[in-house]
Amino acid sequence: MSVRRLAAESVQPTTFAFTAESIGWVNEQIAKYPAGRQASAVIPLLWKAQEQNQYWLPKAAIEHVADMLNMPYMRVLEVATFYTMFNLEPVGKYFIQLCGTTPCRLRGAGDIISVCESRIGEQRHVSADGNFSWLEVECLGACCNAPMVQINNDYYEDLTPENFNALLDDLAAGKPVKVGPQNGRNASEPEGDVKTLIDPKLFDGSVIDSWKATFEERKRKADEAKAAAVAAAKAAEDAKASEPAKPAEQAKDAAPARPVPSDGKSGATQDTPAATGTAGQAAANAGQPAPSASKDEAVAPAADPAKEEAAKAEERIIAAKLASLPKTASATEKADAVGSKPAGLAAPRAGKADDLKRIGGIGKVNEGKLNLLGVFHFDQIAGWSLEEIRWVGTYLAFPGRIDREDWVGQAKTLASGSDTAFSKRVDQGSVPSSKA
Ligand code: FES
Repeated sequence: MSVRRLAAESVQPTTFAFTAESIGWVNEQIAKYPAGRQASAVIPLLWKAQEQNQYWLPKAAIEHVADMLNMPYMRVLEVATFYTMFNLEPVGKYFIQLCGTTPCRLRGAGDIISVCESRIGEQRHVSADGNFSWLEVECLGACCNAPMVQINNDYYEDLTPENFNALLDDLAAGKPVKVGPQNGRNASEPEGDVKTLIDPKLFDGSVIDSWKATFEERKRKADEAKAAAVAAAKAAEDAKASEPAKPAEQAKDAAPARPVPSDGKSGATQDTPAATGTAGQAAANAGQPAPSASKDEAVAPAADPAKEEAAKAEERIIAAKLASLPKTASATEKADAVGSKPAGLAAPRAGKADDLKRIGGIGKVNEGKLNLLGVFHFDQIAGWSLEEIRWVGTYLAFPGRIDREDWVGQAKTLASGSDTAFSKRVDQGSVPSSKA
């Protein structure tokens, strides 16, 4: 890449202005951009200035464009010196940009450079007759026709010293010249005898047809898969819709899943530990359907089969974890073996605990136990993690039940200030085991 500086002062014109022919076009370019964004027109304006000034940009033109666009001179100078399309010094009537990049070099660009040097002189030097100047540039994107040059706005390709010399002769003489390949070939078609295997299908459209068929087949399969997925989703929805509806009361606040006393009487309280049994008993019950509740237990049963299945799975997991503990392990040791103890409070916030008995499944006994663990508020239970649920469930000797009765879900509702159907019954005093 060449160093790009302004031309010597000696060749710089003192003034520059767009001609009457140019100014209309210039104003059109500026008007393309919104108010305050006129600087975006800097490249078109510099290009027009160069075109008007025998294809080079004097300092006066750069400053004139800056003034028109209300830009600092330095900003416009930066643009002009950055882009090699702007010539910063006088060029010949025919300005030759000669590609010296590898493909052109390998195909004889060195010989073309020699022609330029012998006929014109050094780069950036205008020939004595004013007709030519030349500059070595990087790849101009016509490598398949290497070596090549750009003269003013046109490409001349497939050059040899002979045809290039002839080209310059014709230009100097003002004769018409042929743009493009100078060796007779059309564009970049194969040169001379074909030296590569060329599949006729490349030219008869069958390759395109073949790809088209492939894309169509892919689309057809994708459409089929999509339709199948939609049909499956609809079938699942239909099946769900055909299931009998569950009463809201049953879904939210139905009786708890725990064993009924052997006498079948209704004396069990909401959280009777004896009725629930030890952790070992619960583990032994794992996989069994939840027993029905006695009439005043008012604790939510697992009406949802998925929830019931999840609760059973929890029971199995906890039973497996407890299996290796000695039978003499304490409640805390068992709880520590299966989960993490939730953080507790030293005392109820503002000295007033929530009535945890408003959660279906928590009666006076378990409320007392939870309070001893530092659990006083609905939002504490609402925030329990799986590990904490396991710990509390095992500590209270009913693993799986917290999930089955959805203590966390009930606690979230109550913590938000809303009621559950069960909490309403407690508030009405119709749940004996929940009375203080
Ligand atoms: S290398 Fe010369 S045009 Fe690309």
